[in-house]
Amino acid sequence: MAYISIYDATPLDEHQLTALLQPTDHYWTYCRDQIALDNLHPESEIISVFIGSTVTREIIERLPRLRLIACRSTGYNNIDMAAAREHGITVVNVPSYGERTVAEYTFALLLSLTRKLQATTQAVQAATYDQAAIMGTDLAGKTMGIIGMGRIGRHVAGIARAFGMEVLVYDPYPDETAARELSVELVSLDELAGRSDIISLHSPYTGDNHHLINDAFLSKAKSGAILINTARDELVDTRALIDALRTGRLAGAGLDVLEGEQLLKLDKELQVLNKDTLSGKTSAQSLQLDVLKRFANVIITPHNAFNTIEALERINRTTADNMIRFWYGETPNAVSAPDTRPGKLVIARHGESEWNAEGRWSGTRDVHLSEKGFHEAALLGQAVSDIQFDIAFTSQQIRTFETMSGMLDSIQQFDVPYRRDTALNERDYGEYTGLNKWQVKEKLGEDVFRHLRRDWDYPVPGGESLRMVYERAVPFYRQVILPELLSGKNVLVVSHGNAIRALVKYIEDISDEGIGGIEMLFGSILIYDVDHDGRMQHKRVAHIRTTPPNA
Ligand code: NAI
Repeated sequence: MAYISIYDATPLDEHQLTALLQPTDHYWTYCRDQIALDNLHPESEIISVFIGSTVTREIIERLPRLRLIACRSTGYNNIDMAAAREHGITVVNVPSYGERTVAEYTFALLLSLTRKLQATTQAVQAATYDQAAIMGTDLAGKTMGIIGMGRIGRHVAGIARAFGMEVLVYDPYPDETAARELSVELVSLDELAGRSDIISLHSPYTGDNHHLINDAFLSKAKSGAILINTARDELVDTRALIDALRTGRLAGAGLDVLEGEQLLKLDKELQVLNKDTLSGKTSAQSLQLDVLKRFANVIITPHNAFNTIEALERINRTTADNMIRFWYGETPNAVSAPDTRPGKLVIARHGESEWNAEGRWSGTRDVHLSEKGFHEAALLGQAVSDIQFDIAFTSQQIRTFETMSGMLDSIQQFDVPYRRDTALNERDYGEYTGLNKWQVKEKLGEDVFRHLRRDWDYPVPGGESLRMVYERAVPFYRQVILPELLSGKNVLVVSHGNAIRALVKYIEDISDEGIGGIEMLFGSILIYDVDHDGRMQHKRVAHIRTTPPNA
């Protein structure tokens, strides 16, 4: 079960994600706002954000349990990827959900400009219009220049061809087969600039294409061309764009993304305004937005090209799938994953103790291994000699410590750090401690004796039921051992029959009734691959040759 915090959640996101997560046992909360230092849940193991949220290093460092950032977008440059990698956090995205959606929107912007829809509807409202002023231009016969022919660019090309347009494409990684199939011409960036009536951006922002559309590019553009940007704000130098619009080199621009787009919301604008210091960049962007809004031949929309009910459904479906499958150890759509897979979990029962040899219940009493027990410890080690251990855990009883040391010494892994903890102690047998179990059996009768040894919650006078052992061992496993596994470490746990049964109940998800049938035999070793909840994904059991002690 994961604690999931979902930010930037609209009522539609809530409705769709709740339906998709409902069948799981994850716990999730929604927050309408963008992620910020004051709305973090420190328990979060997964966060999901939309493009408006910026996941900074500081946010990542305030979430100690965070394992996954699920972007509900294709782009992920709103995440501090270096910080995510350093903290072993996986980042997933939604690689495709709206190629047709964005392509359709590209033409919505384009047709609004070429057919002067804004001016036309305003003229109708004013009930006075001059036909010449609202005259448009055809698309058929014009040349469309597409920069970046990936998923979206291809659909734009297809629609443009359907309009009867000629299509030019610039892509540094051109797909010649697709170009042939779509009947488009692959050209250089300069040629595209010089020949296109419409230039449409569909490439990602890669850093080295910062301000790809700049003074130099626009000076080569055909006079009267139209620019459409539904890709990324950083691709266009807004100052150069304003210049080109002012001089008439560009006849119009349709901008769904533009520098400073966050300032299109009044509350963001006010937030910025209320800051003590305003950066030069923010002031310039704010002013440029203001100027652009005054051009009649410019349409600005607020990063809205993806926004259809069908596309949002696809985003939420992929995001839910990303989060659910991650918890089972899969990383579909990972854009950055730590190269650590969970380590191996090896659980061994200690070798025979001196009291085991006599058939006495040791409980939490300290009893050393018998000679046979030391020999068994060496054999247990050799059964897992193929695993290089990074850390070991034992109970506080000396017999598990002696077994662990014997195991590791026998395979010459001398420097493995270890921790001894009461959480892994043997079940406290209370009044029965030190008694011979066969005498106890005779006294209590077969039935009671069986319940006492095997049942989930059978009381022991002055001692612990298995449930009580579970309540200390499993939280320790989840909080202390599991993070070690998830950071890629191979972990050895040497403990006792009942503490191991408690762990196995959790790891293998065994019912309260089912645990009665689970026995941790002397000489057996359990080797698990686990998921992010520490539950079994795969199990192997190794055995050593040993005669059972008098147990
Ligand atoms: P994609 O990854 O399928 O295709 C991108 C194409 O651009 C590839 O063919 C690649 O070779 C090409 N490319 C890479 N660097 C380039 C460069 N420097 N110049 C020209 N082409 C270059 O991406 P997809 O899904 O087609 O998305 C394209 C853009 O659209 C992305 O930046 C994405 O963020 C943006 N987008 C915008 C949305 C909106 O709501 N406005 C919604 C979804 C995506």
